[in-house]
Amino acid sequence: MLRTVLLGPPGAGKGTQAVRIVEKYNVPHISTGDIFRENIKNGTELGKKAQEYMNKGELVPDDLVIEIATTRLLADDCKNGFLLDGFPRTVYQAEKLDAFLEEHGMKLDKVIDIEVEKEELITRLTGRRVCKACGASFHVVNIPPKTEGICDNCGGELFQRADDTVETVENRIAVYIEQTMPLVDYYKNAGNIVEIDGALPLDTVFGQIVEAIGE
Ligand code: AP5
Ligand code: MG
Repeated sequence: MLRTVLLGPPGAGKGTQAVRIVEKYNVPHISTGDIFRENIKNGTELGKKAQEYMNKGELVPDDLVIEIATTRLLADDCKNGFLLDGFPRTVYQAEKLDAFLEEHGMKLDKVIDIEVEKEELITRLTGRRVCKACGASFHVVNIPPKTEGICDNCGGELFQRADDTVETVENRIAVYIEQTMPLVDYYKNAGNIVEIDGALPLDTVFGQIVEAIGE
């Protein structure tokens, strides 16, 4: 049983570590960003609404995100825990999540805060390439795929996210500092946050996370 949240700026490595965490602890990976991108790909109403904000690097309005996340948390596969990636992202979302969990007799075990400094975030995001088929993340310099443009895991085609341009990345980081960083104090008050140095190599970061969560 593990109910946890991955917090951290854009490019900190939330998605990358999430793949490993869900494999080890056998819980579903719930990324609100992935849910929106899937809706954009499928041309749904939700996707159209979310896209307006995402392309500018702004946050999608709270009520829309809360509805999506809490509906997802009611699915059967979340009965034995979950890993939230990129939700909550405002104090209001965190309060609503707490209220929802309490209403259903649950609480968060841990909040994992992965921190990386700004210059490194920009380098990581502008060099990121993502697999169209399985969603795995690579980096043109840091984590290059064996064959350029092709996913190591599934052979799918790699692409660059629409919000990974320098300009949008800068805005996403500014939005993070202004609207999401206050969550660090929110969870410090709750006493369940652990800070992880996300600038270290992938395996070291994962090791710190496992240490924080426990085997
Ligand atoms: P979302 O999809 O959540 O994006 P994000 O938070 O901006 O974070 P990223 O996915 O860009 O970064 P990551 O931390 O997952 O890094 P990754 O592992 O890929 O959200 C997108 C948008 O959706 C938001 O802007 C907003 O509009 C909307 N949205 C989503 N949730 C919302 C919410 N709750 N409320 C409102 N709006 C919401 O790694 C990045 C790169 O670095 C990769 O290339 C990777 O290979 C590399 N890398 C990773 N770890 C390391 C390492 N240790 N060393 C070297 N390189 C590394
Ligand atoms: Mg991500």
